[in-house]
Amino acid sequence: MPEYRVAVVTGAARRVGRAIALELAARGYALAVHYHSSTPAEVDETLAACRANGVSAEPFQADLADPAAIERLFTDVEARFGRLDVLVNSASAFQRRRLMEVTLDDWQRTMAVNLTAPFLCTQTAVRQMRAQSPPGGVIINIGDHGALEPWPDYAHHGISKAGLLALTRLTAASEAPLIRANMVIPGLVMKPVGMEDARWAEVAAETPAQRPGTAEDVARAVAFLAEEPFITGAVLRVDGGAGLM
Ligand SMILES: NC(=O)c1ccc[n+]([C@@H]2O[C@H](COP(=O)([O-])OP(=O)(O)OC[C@H]3O[C@@H](n4cnc5c(N)ncnc54)[C@H](OP(=O)(O)O)[C@@H]3O)[C@@H](O)[C@H]2O)c1
Repeated sequence: MPEYRVAVVTGAARRVGRAIALELAARGYALAVHYHSSTPAEVDETLAACRANGVSAEPFQADLADPAAIERLFTDVEARFGRLDVLVNSASAFQRRRLMEVTLDDWQRTMAVNLTAPFLCTQTAVRQMRAQSPPGGVIINIGDHGALEPWPDYAHHGISKAGLLALTRLTAASEAPLIRANMVIPGLVMKPVGMEDARWAEVAAETPAQRPGTAEDVARAVAFLAEEPFITGAVLRVDGGAGLM
């Protein structure tokens, strides 16, 4: 066993990513808290909450739409922590567009963050995970229901997450047994920025659970998949049954 385990969580300074970072910190992981444009106060709050568990937590700023920044991110994480046990690809662009409204620019921006970045993060992480001693690691990708079913109001977002699901399963198949890869698909857990409270309550009430979930619900599922050694290539919906409808 290594002296300590290290997790990188992308988009970890706020919302769902922060909850994932805190859950892993509570389980003893040292945390590389990636962020892009979160405020210093948000980053500091996340770091302090992670460190309250007695683990190391360090901030790493990167625009994941920039491949060079991804390379730097992992180089810096390795320099600081010396190993990498868990990668959680949670950072995501979220844009409402129907198929015929999606411009080439919309498509490229969404794919850059939601699919190309996790692909590059996966390749870089796998290289580090293979080379370290002892070798191995796990990658958890955060999907969305558009990964599984057509979601016409979020056309290119759903397509990007379907690609991320394919990447998850491909990684699980091609990198086993050293590296596992799984996906968590949250349902309604945090109100999208800009959605009215009344609309949010209405949508949540229509799910079998009749309520929204929490970021912590998602975070516990991520930690479960990170730590169960016989689970790879799995897709776990954390959605209060929304996928049944
Ligand atoms: N919230 C939900 O109810 C829900 C439902 C289903 C699925 N999900 C999935 O769960 C994950 C987290 O959800 P969320 O609602 O917390 O997501 P979010 O707030 O929409 O975005 C998460 C983070 O992505 C980062 N990000 C965006 N563009 C970036 C870029 N170019 N470079 C680097 N980082 C970038 C942002 O970091 P900065 O803030 O630092 O810029 C942001 O905090 C996502 O993958 C999402 O698709 C969420």
